[in-house]
Amino acid sequence: MPGETLTVFAPGRVNLIGDHVDYVGGLVLPMAVDLGTTIRVTRAVGDVPQLVRLRSDSEPEAATIELPVGAVSDRSPVWSRYPAAVMAEMGTTHGFEGDVTTTLPVGAGLSSSASLEIAVALAAGFTGPPLELARLCQRAEQRASGVPCGIMDQLSIAAGVAGSALLIDCRDETVKPVALPDGVAVHAVHCGVSRRLAGSEYADRRADCEAAERTIGPLRDATFDRLSELDGIEQRRARHVITEIGRVRSAVDAATAGDAATFGRLMNESHASLRDDFEVSIPELDQLVERLQSTPGVHGARMTGAGFGGCAVAMVDAGVDPARIGGWRLSPSAGAGIVN
Ligand code: GLA
Repeated sequence: MPGETLTVFAPGRVNLIGDHVDYVGGLVLPMAVDLGTTIRVTRAVGDVPQLVRLRSDSEPEAATIELPVGAVSDRSPVWSRYPAAVMAEMGTTHGFEGDVTTTLPVGAGLSSSASLEIAVALAAGFTGPPLELARLCQRAEQRASGVPCGIMDQLSIAAGVAGSALLIDCRDETVKPVALPDGVAVHAVHCGVSRRLAGSEYADRRADCEAAERTIGPLRDATFDRLSELDGIEQRRARHVITEIGRVRSAVDAATAGDAATFGRLMNESHASLRDDFEVSIPELDQLVERLQSTPGVHGARMTGAGFGGCAVAMVDAGVDPARIGGWRLSPSAGAGIVN
């Protein structure tokens, strides 16, 4: 297809602390990472064909999407639902071709789908501010996957700041850069099991939180003493949310004070809460996290993202040989954009 060419890049993200709290307006502390999705785009000029064609280095079948996009959820190949949903949200009518390459592991809790969505939106010509980009791609994710996700993944990718983690207040959707303590490195390590049952279990957990909120009001504002008004599962889900939001606040204080030991302890506590109260870990992740937590030079480790498989994240002393930790050593990176 003759036309102008450009390259866009969207990072993935790793969440340092604050999981399963974004969809109840909580606080989260992710960072955009130096692994991500690149799309080399050729935009048609002149007589515009009403077609988007994307080839991906991690998918055997290309995505061919006719414009304007109609139904999304029954499209095949499955991965084409994500770009199709983005273009449905954008109302895209101008065709283009693109080659997608990714350095992110897919389905591993590092937001490969959000990274693809944001890259596609930029490739299709989105030019608005990061929050608008994130909201659009959050709607696209929900439409493509049917999972009622929060804003964390898309906003951390759209608004990333090189060298910093991001404190996101998911209630007012504001973002504040937070520098990590000096001398630490961040690793993501895969537990060997791809995410499973994430969709339906995720929706169930969100529904449990909403049920708890009908009794004690917004969990973002709830205090510990209200927990006694809940029972069983709802009490445990709410306890996770309330304590996790508190841990994010404490982690920001620890990062600001340069206190990696406290930050790491909070990560360990977060894992226990996600495992025991929120029940989104699996044995393989628990074993990996235990191995990481007992490795010399590791300040703390926890599962990251939705859970049910995928990666753990560890904060480690930067002097430790990366091979002793394994996985990917990740740097806090800038948000998505046009590369050239
Ligand atoms: C997934 C969702 C996010 C968030 C995390 C858990 O990554 O897309 O919105 O809820 O799970 O913290």
